[in-house]
Amino acid sequence: MQLFVDTADLTEIREAASWGVISGVTTNPTLLAKSFSGKDVSIKAVIQEICGLVDGPISMEVTSPDAEGMIGEGREFATWHPNVYVKIPFGIEGMKAVRALTDEGINTNVTLVFSANQALLAANAGATFISSFVGRVDDVGYDGIGIIEQVVNLMSLHQFDSLVLAASIRHPLHVTQSAEVGADIATIPFKVLKQMYFHPLTESGIASFNADAAKLQAVAV
Ligand code: G3P
Repeated sequence: MQLFVDTADLTEIREAASWGVISGVTTNPTLLAKSFSGKDVSIKAVIQEICGLVDGPISMEVTSPDAEGMIGEGREFATWHPNVYVKIPFGIEGMKAVRALTDEGINTNVTLVFSANQALLAANAGATFISSFVGRVDDVGYDGIGIIEQVVNLMSLHQFDSLVLAASIRHPLHVTQSAEVGADIATIPFKVLKQMYFHPLTESGIASFNADAAKLQAVAV
């Protein structure tokens, strides 16, 4: 399973990229607003900078309400960098746009997917990635990982090319569970990605090794 980082914060992306485990970045309007609202920046320049930091799919989301507008935005985003994936919210208009952009060879990431049927429709529209949300499903008392498992199984059973991207990750266990049920990608908030590294026994083990290594340094090597 590939790991993407789910943020538009350039500092977080630089740090995550330096760790050598990230294969892509996903953004959305909320993440962009969190980092850049009220700032005089070009979103195109931001996305292009991200493309320079991580050599992999970089998702940029459309905001038009209709297919024509989404297609126009997608065509524009695709000119920004070869690694830009056009992120399109699920819906009738969105899937019309996915079909059109796919037919033009533009990669798409269908977002806000919450059911197996939505994933089936996105796959039939030609989606490159299908972002099935875990945390927001859990937040309302249902099984977000169970939907990931359903979607993974359907993509495999019917040999769709669409890749299943586990999104809306809330904690490290969501990453483990997404990998266990076969998600192709998990896009992970920076804070959660950092949490994945930590285990108290590793920390205490390193401290113990270092203490014992110091004893050796007291002895002629
Ligand atoms: O960026 C897509 C998705 O991961 C966002 O989910 O629930 O954290 O807003 P959420």
